[in-house]
Amino acid sequence: MRKLLLQLVSSRLPSVFDRVVAYDGGADEVMSYGGVTDADVRDLIHGCIFTRGPKDLKSSAVFVGGADIAVGEQLLAAATKAMFKPFTVSAMLDSNGSNTTAVAAVAKMVQAAGGGEVRGTRVLIVAGTGPVGIRAAGLFAKAGADVCITSRKADAGERARDLVLKRFGGKVRAIAMADASEAVRACERAELLLNAGPAGVMLVPKRAWANRPGLKVVADVNAVPPLGIEGVEVMDDGVTKDGVVCLGALAIGNLKMKVHKACIARLFERNDLVLDAETIADVARELMAPKQ
Ligand SMILES: NC(=O)c1ccc[n+]([C@@H]2O[C@H](COP(=O)([O-])OP(=O)(O)OC[C@H]3O[C@@H](n4cnc5c(N)ncnc54)[C@H](OP(=O)(O)O)[C@@H]3O)[C@@H](O)[C@H]2O)c1
Repeated sequence: MRKLLLQLVSSRLPSVFDRVVAYDGGADEVMSYGGVTDADVRDLIHGCIFTRGPKDLKSSAVFVGGADIAVGEQLLAAATKAMFKPFTVSAMLDSNGSNTTAVAAVAKMVQAAGGGEVRGTRVLIVAGTGPVGIRAAGLFAKAGADVCITSRKADAGERARDLVLKRFGGKVRAIAMADASEAVRACERAELLLNAGPAGVMLVPKRAWANRPGLKVVADVNAVPPLGIEGVEVMDDGVTKDGVVCLGALAIGNLKMKVHKACIARLFERNDLVLDAETIADVARELMAPKQ
């Protein structure tokens, strides 16, 4: 039975990146739909669940993407609502790579900090209002960390904070950081720092993090020069620089790719799996566990 992945995307153009990873993760065919709205989802899902018998439905699955994580959440909810037993297929949400990238970043940061509890740890997510930052903030908040996200604009920060709290709960606040010149102040109390800013923008100069008392780990997901954290190179994978453990975008990206592919493979193992931030984090934990 051919493994068919239905890619539903709110943006106009379905992501090529996600299509390639879908094939590499084991899909035989990817059926991509762009510009999808809530109102479209039910009929698209029905096309997926009524075409194969229940025992064959594990060979069909849904992948929700697009640039907007809040819209992605709505599309995933609409997709699961349109299914009913025994006519269900597995589904995964990864708008802009947000869940897989955030899961990889958070897992690497926790490991670099010693692998213990993050409850009460002060986590700063620079430019944390995009899909990756929002998901990373949520994962840290749900684990009990004291999370702060920065935004160039106070209202955008508040909106992102509200999204995180609504979905994950926990302790999250937002502060304004207009640009890199304000990073020293913003980073002052951080113990773990993640730059989730856009490609090609340096937001954290070295003087904001190097030899800063209390700061244990800095991590960057921007792989495009200029990199997001001055002095942290893309291949840095747990190296200590100026008293701080550094994680670069490719060190995080390597784990992200493994997690993403493993998740695609798992979609086709059963017909009732929902892969979102927490369940994708479970997959990462399994991949990172020491081999017996
Ligand atoms: N390593 C990997 O495997 C991997 C995978 C996927 C994505 N990524 C990277 O992850 C990062 C985050 O992705 P994303 O889609 O969540 O990011 P995004 O939405 O493009 O940007 C995140 C936030 O950055 C702020 N921002 C935008 N332009 C800016 C500028 N010129 N100067 C300062 N701040 C700016 C915006 O916040 P405000 O408007 O609120 O300030 C925006 O919400 C990107 O660098 C992306 O390339 C890495």
